[in-house]
Amino acid sequence: MMPKKTITFNSHDLHEKSSGLRFDLPPLGELITGFVVRYEGKAYAYINQCAHVPVELDWNEGDFFTASKDYLICATHGAHYAPETGYCVMGPCKGKSLQALPVTELNQQVIIHIDQLHKIHRKT
Ligand code: FES
Repeated sequence: MMPKKTITFNSHDLHEKSSGLRFDLPPLGELITGFVVRYEGKAYAYINQCAHVPVELDWNEGDFFTASKDYLICATHGAHYAPETGYCVMGPCKGKSLQALPVTELNQQVIIHIDQLHKIHRKT
């Protein structure tokens, strides 16, 4: 079977500054997931691994935004990330970044491109 090159969601299921949508990343193994959020109208996807310790950001599934909805937050030690870049602006991994995944949105579909995944994944 050909490995999957994209992961697709219906645009209507991705709400502004609301729950993120999680997905598996088979090329990176069973335990690693990704997520996509919508921020100021645009979709952003990242590998669901904090830049501090490689744990998932969301204790409550899909809960990636701070209460103010301005940043993504890691539930473990509270690192804050800029939603548009994944850059850590506050917390123990300040100055590091989440690993972004390329996203396009077309014809009411959010498409996450994972064909280059083995090249962009940072070894932790
Ligand atoms: S594991 Fe995310 S801030 Fe420490």
